[in-house]
Amino acid sequence: MTDHSEKYVAAIDQGTTSSRCIIFGHDGAIVAVDQREHRQIFPKPGWVEHDAAEIWSKVQAVVAGALAKAGLRADRLSALGITNQRETTVLWDRATGKPVHNAIVWQDTRTAALCNRLAGTDGQDRFRGQTGLPLATYFAGPKVAWLLDNVPGLRARAARGEIAFGTVDSWLIWNLTGGPDGGRHVTDVTNAGRTMLMNLETLQWDASLLAAMDVPEAVLPEIRSSSEVYGTAVGQLAGVPVASALGDQQAAVFGQACYDVGTAKNTYGTGSFLLLNTGDRPVASKSGLLTTMGYKIGDEAPVYCLEGSIAITGALVQWFRDQLGIIRTADEIEALAGSVEDHGGAYIVPAFSGLFAPYWRSDARGVVTGLTRFVTKAHLARAVLEATSWQTREVVDAMYQDSGVRITSLKVDGGMTGNNLLMQHQADVLDVPVVRPRVAETTCLGAAYAAGLATGVWSDLDELKTHWQQDAEWTPSMTAAVRDREYRNWRKAVERSFGWAEE
Ligand code: G3P
Repeated sequence: MTDHSEKYVAAIDQGTTSSRCIIFGHDGAIVAVDQREHRQIFPKPGWVEHDAAEIWSKVQAVVAGALAKAGLRADRLSALGITNQRETTVLWDRATGKPVHNAIVWQDTRTAALCNRLAGTDGQDRFRGQTGLPLATYFAGPKVAWLLDNVPGLRARAARGEIAFGTVDSWLIWNLTGGPDGGRHVTDVTNAGRTMLMNLETLQWDASLLAAMDVPEAVLPEIRSSSEVYGTAVGQLAGVPVASALGDQQAAVFGQACYDVGTAKNTYGTGSFLLLNTGDRPVASKSGLLTTMGYKIGDEAPVYCLEGSIAITGALVQWFRDQLGIIRTADEIEALAGSVEDHGGAYIVPAFSGLFAPYWRSDARGVVTGLTRFVTKAHLARAVLEATSWQTREVVDAMYQDSGVRITSLKVDGGMTGNNLLMQHQADVLDVPVVRPRVAETTCLGAAYAAGLATGVWSDLDELKTHWQQDAEWTPSMTAAVRDREYRNWRKAVERSFGWAEE
């Protein structure tokens, strides 16, 4: 038998603002990490783009960096897993391997008019039955249609089979496995499920959705499970099996060991995404949540989730740092916010990309309410952090309405969980304990787990569950009266954000 304790699993997490490669040992502990940011391109208000070629080069750099820090050669890796920002849309030329346009990022709102047209008289939930998703600018299908209609000559080239579409998982796997020289054009169910083109029951592209959105089948990748060997890497990772793909939020579900029905996690990144495992059947939402894939391991039955997607949480801290220049580093916000007792009456609703769950309002835009001359930058810093916990409270309430499951504690992960003030406020406004695992890099960990399962590094989910260990816990301490008053105020502020966008 192979001694797997001598082997390692690598995961690439290609996120909205940066790419990361983490190498894990057999016990799930981190051996090495490397990370690089890429450019955020804002051509117009509401538009957000990435350069997919830059992303690919950053990914190659972080893989090299992580191997160097670990002091390992690629032949010590048993498997490579991929996890990624979801919905971000790349179209590339199959022959040259070059993207035909900047990638359109999930936060981009340029497809608002197209989504309204598609909704027609049937309304925003026209495709909910097939896809679990409301018509919103968030999802990839309309972004593909926009590119085909707006890049000169692209529709004809796509019809001739010259163009490939992929979410970022697909783009990376194609490049890792050879690019124009035999790269595998595949995606997994968790990513395909965010295009609005995949049927949630059949887990295949749906001809009626392709027709409605005018997306030709010739551009699409093959849909595979989240945990299987898609191909073998070439280049610096030559010979390593590429063995998992999961959207980043689903990878976090997997890394947090949310394998049982009723378990949930919230990841705080650019946005925040709370996912609840609902088992092997999709549960329809009536409260503004998404019905989405959780994961699918090889030939096993798929696992579904309800998801509360919040577009802007960590990105609000970045905006506070980069656009307003009030802090120099993201970490500084905690000390600034902690220098005052409370938010001084100010609320910030960061509807920069409209509002996602539970509202799905592409006409919303950010607002600051409650300003008086009393309010300082410290109060605003507090309002920035509290915007994250209130938005999370709204999706937790929607989760309860849809599933009847009342969470008794919330598993959290992601960069913002290092912020004690925020985590305490989160526990206070949910009125349940908030717990963080020892390995907070659950997104990479989940991709590594899925890749290791496909290649025999780990045997099953029970083994993976034994790795989960608690690191920190925050318990609620806010009185019900304060919580209820604050929540009412927050919702009043949210209403003020509606109806600002010109569409
Ligand atoms: O759906 C968007 C989500 O996948 C982005 O995650 O962590 O890159 O903000 P993150």
